[in-house]
Amino acid sequence: MSQPFERLGDLLDRHVVGHDDAKGALLLALLCREHVYLEGPPGTAKTRMAELVARGTGLSFFFYQLHRDTRLAELVGDVVLERSPLGGGGERIAQRVEPGGVLDCDLCVLDDISRAPGEALNVLLRVLNERRFGDRPLPLLSAIATGNPASDAYYNEPLDPANLDRFALQLRVAPLLEGDPDAAARLLDRAAEGGVEESPEPRPVLDRAELDRLYAELPGIEVPVALRAALLELLRRLVVDHGCDENEALLTDRSFLVKAVKLLRGRALQGGRTRVEAADLGVLAWMTTFRVPPEVHAEVPRLIAAVG
Ligand SMILES: Nc1ncnc2c1ncn2[C@@H]1O[C@H](COP(=O)(O)OP(=O)(O)OP(=O)(O)O)[C@@H](O)[C@H]1O
Ligand SMILES: [Mg+2]
Repeated sequence: MSQPFERLGDLLDRHVVGHDDAKGALLLALLCREHVYLEGPPGTAKTRMAELVARGTGLSFFFYQLHRDTRLAELVGDVVLERSPLGGGGERIAQRVEPGGVLDCDLCVLDDISRAPGEALNVLLRVLNERRFGDRPLPLLSAIATGNPASDAYYNEPLDPANLDRFALQLRVAPLLEGDPDAAARLLDRAAEGGVEESPEPRPVLDRAELDRLYAELPGIEVPVALRAALLELLRRLVVDHGCDENEALLTDRSFLVKAVKLLRGRALQGGRTRVEAADLGVLAWMTTFRVPPEVHAEVPRLIAAVG
């Protein structure tokens, strides 16, 4: 892996045991400046991983815990009132947003987005997607969002699939015992032998200049014609063979013809290569989690192996 990402990967590994896919997706999102959504039951280190990425980068970040009464204004800055005198002794009072929050950071962590009411979330995610608020461009590189699966026990509703499409990368984080029993045993050993945390607030291990330099290299990464064909064939199989048409799934042109290519390039660059290889296609499974029905998503690694 290219050095800056190796350092950040090591930092994540020192603090969080297992969850290799989630960690890989977080690093890839950061490199490619895409948004990432991690969904999983409580206590699966989602918030911890998001926080570690934020602190480990030395980027300016905005951390916000969403809740049932979250209003958009809390996410985009402070509402200020401006008073100006009018002729004849009157006064004009206007309301304006002093940009802050997601409008004024490199990285934002939106914790528990599944708790936020629809209207605030819809607008927020549109702003993140367009990367502008009114005519103000956002300096934001990536948004990292976490959420619990929809269930009565968590007092939340399922997220709108169109909203989830705003997150190029989207993963389910399973409890270790279910997803990675070896890691569960390692975490237990660590806890039994004296604790997992190295220090609660790690120092940054990479900086903005390194991220900018790597990002500038992305367009130069070659995407061989054979792999473009593999990507199209994967899409064809999902849509035609598995019935993932627009009623069943969200394999949009934006996500699958534009962002997939960017993520493949990012994967190659993280591997220190200048050319995408068949092995990089594995990242496509980090895109399909909530875009296709769960039983089809489970098939995606096999489909990728077949087309690659
Ligand atoms: N795999 C792990 N490695 C190390 N520590 C872990 C791991 N899983 C859980 N923990 C510990 O449990 C804490 C809980 O994790 P965290 O709060 O990030 O969970 P979460 O997935 O965000 O849960 P919620 O859905 O309730 O918000 C972590 O801060 C850490 O101390
Ligand atoms: Mg959490």
